[in-house]
Amino acid sequence: MDKIVIQGGTRLNGEIVIGGAKNSAIKLMAVCLLTDKPVFLKNMPRLRDTRSMSELLSHLGVSINLSGSDKMTLHAESLSSSTAPYELVRKMRASFNVLGPLLARSGFAKVSLPGGCAIGARPVDLHLKAMESFGAKIKLEEGYVIASAKAGLKGAEITFPFISVGATEHAMLTAVLAEGETVLNNAACEPEIVDLANCLNAMGAKVSGAGRPRISIIGVSSLKGVDYSVVPDRIEAGTYALAAATVGGTVKLSNICKDHLGALWPLIEQAGAKLTFDRTSVLIERNGTNLRAVDVDTQAYPGFPTDLQAQFMTMMCLAEGTSIIRENIFENRFMHCPELSRMGADIDVRGREAIVRGVKELKGAPVMATDLRASASLISAGMAAEGETHVGRVYHLDRGFENIEIKLRNCGANITRESE
Ligand code: UD1
Repeated sequence: MDKIVIQGGTRLNGEIVIGGAKNSAIKLMAVCLLTDKPVFLKNMPRLRDTRSMSELLSHLGVSINLSGSDKMTLHAESLSSSTAPYELVRKMRASFNVLGPLLARSGFAKVSLPGGCAIGARPVDLHLKAMESFGAKIKLEEGYVIASAKAGLKGAEITFPFISVGATEHAMLTAVLAEGETVLNNAACEPEIVDLANCLNAMGAKVSGAGRPRISIIGVSSLKGVDYSVVPDRIEAGTYALAAATVGGTVKLSNICKDHLGALWPLIEQAGAKLTFDRTSVLIERNGTNLRAVDVDTQAYPGFPTDLQAQFMTMMCLAEGTSIIRENIFENRFMHCPELSRMGADIDVRGREAIVRGVKELKGAPVMATDLRASASLISAGMAAEGETHVGRVYHLDRGFENIEIKLRNCGANITRESE
């Protein structure tokens, strides 16, 4: 298994090009199940998660071709299976979202209950309730969800009891081919939801209101092929912005959507970094200014993203003062805290809050990546720390960050990947 080895203490200076959004790309790949025509995706990140999704879709009979460094064609001319097995679904929770498209296409689906990052209980009850609202019959057998809709799917009004990105996307993917109108209330508003709606609409779907809490979908009888470019990854951008602010230096991030990180930018500035925006880029500078403590409260979009909480915490570990970081989305998303503490951070976790008292310096140490985004927080900590840090279990990192060590090395970081 690989590990990342970092010699800390080097500032970051250079440019990083942000790739396509992982969380959008894997749902856009599932779109191919809704049409017998080719789906051509550009600005696709090459990640473990997109590979996992490719393996699952190939198993279902989709032919997949990669071209260039960021292009993918998916063609589900006919499906050879409606079963998504445990070995393929367990690698990534979002692969559960093939259930609705399979149901819409074939009237039947057998999909394993999902795996993914261990950042909380993460049930799929909202997904299953949505499928039932569309008229599907659902059974749970031996770890599998067996869903059938012999008479086809019917549009429905669904009010989510709380906001779920995955359930909103899953309901959208299913409703586009259901008969009649679907209304989703209390829908997630993330940019990835808008990206999915834009792609579906380019295929002939009738989705309106994506990006707002009420989404309306008028079902159509078929969808055509599409040539579509994935939205830039706001979490990758936020991760590097926070790394630059934490470690210090001057880093330009290009291919970003500034508006997608509206909750992050003011907090980075309050913490002491200077930001200069251009149309699709941002320059992050922190040269000599000390970091200051800032409180953070994770929320659904447009609030502060839970996927940047760990990376923000690393920055706060080195800030002057005490920062309170509250995690409202996942109940178990502080697993990076003991690892940061091993590097000298002063963190107390009390339920959903972490109290971070800034320290003068972190010290390099062997640490374990515990989930995808937490891995990035440990890399940042390693770059800011004095001495050598080894980050183990980097397969988490590879799920969601393309060429992270190359991108950071190009900015002067002393970071390498080694086989353990
Ligand atoms: C997606 C993102 C993930 C991000 C999260 C929140 C992808 C691939 N992943 O995950 O990176 O951290 O949104 O922004 O896009 N829940 C239920 N029942 C359900 C569904 C969800 O109780 O049926 C709970 C979850 O356990 C969690 C909360 O709802 O506590 C929000 O989860 P959700 O928005 O669904 O996250 P994901 O779609 O899994």
